Amino acid sequence: MAPSSRSSTDRIHLSAPDVGAEERTLLLLDAFESGWIAPLGPHVDAFEHEMAQRVGVAHAAALSSGTAALHLALRILGVGPGDEVLTSTLTFAATANAITYCGATPVFVDVDRATWQLDPALVADELHRRADRGRLPAALVTVDLYGQCADYDRILVAAAAFDVPVIEDAAEALGATYRGRAAGSFGAMAVLSFNGNKMITTSGGGMLLTDRADWADQARFLATQARDPAPHYQHSTIGYNYRLSNLLAAVGRAQLRSLDTKVGARRRIFERYRAGLGDLDGITFMPEAA
Ligand SMILES: Cc1ncc(COP(=O)(O)O)c(C=O)c1O
Repeated sequence: MAPSSRSSTDRIHLSAPDVGAEERTLLLLDAFESGWIAPLGPHVDAFEHEMAQRVGVAHAAALSSGTAALHLALRILGVGPGDEVLTSTLTFAATANAITYCGATPVFVDVDRATWQLDPALVADELHRRADRGRLPAALVTVDLYGQCADYDRILVAAAAFDVPVIEDAAEALGATYRGRAAGSFGAMAVLSFNGNKMITTSGGGMLLTDRADWADQARFLATQARDPAPHYQHSTIGYNYRLSNLLAAVGRAQLRSLDTKVGARRRIFERYRAGLGDLDGITFMPEAA
């Protein structure tokens, strides 16, 4: 069939959003009726609280995208022009884009063929080499690719040995665990995405997770145009319009309630592909870590 005559129903979506009745009827309606149609409100606070609890971190800041969360995490760590930041070769462009927003340069470290995740041995080698040259990176952004965590036991030890802060890009991995700990709980700060193709969606959205209250507060401050606590409009630093709206936070809360069901659905889809395509030459599937 010529591409031009193909209807949209022929398309197999990478990951269609799974949005149910609860999002529509309960929480979204409540958000409308409460009058909080703004980038703040009770659903934003509750979504942050519920996500922090689910992931097992102390604080969360709800933001307009995962990319915004990456940008703020880097900015809070003080990453700036002239800095270099290590990250993975195998990720979505947003991970590297956020590094360039700070004027820093992404330096790509390869993944392990066996796991598809950032290679901990290469991370350690690169940090040793850079320490010898007196040119340590300002940060390391790990990536939890396709729903699995990077190898944090080894990566965090290597980074800690050189005092390099770690940001966990868990945009694709909400619902995954590594040695019993949830994706989003590793590193100094972690980032989630609620884009349309992610584990849960708010159409667009993201979150910054951290155990440090001051960093979560700073993320909220920078995400609301860095407005100083003054009775008039006063800004002493550059901020961004990065906060998640109350309406979308209501959708996120309903989505989070069915996270485990969504993880189960992804596993079934994965198994179906593996059963159907696994014997074909040239096709391999991402191995699942124990
Ligand atoms: C690994 C990774 N990091 C960051 C992002 C960016 O998230 P967002 O689209 O919410 O900005 C995505 C996906 O979009 C991603 O897959």
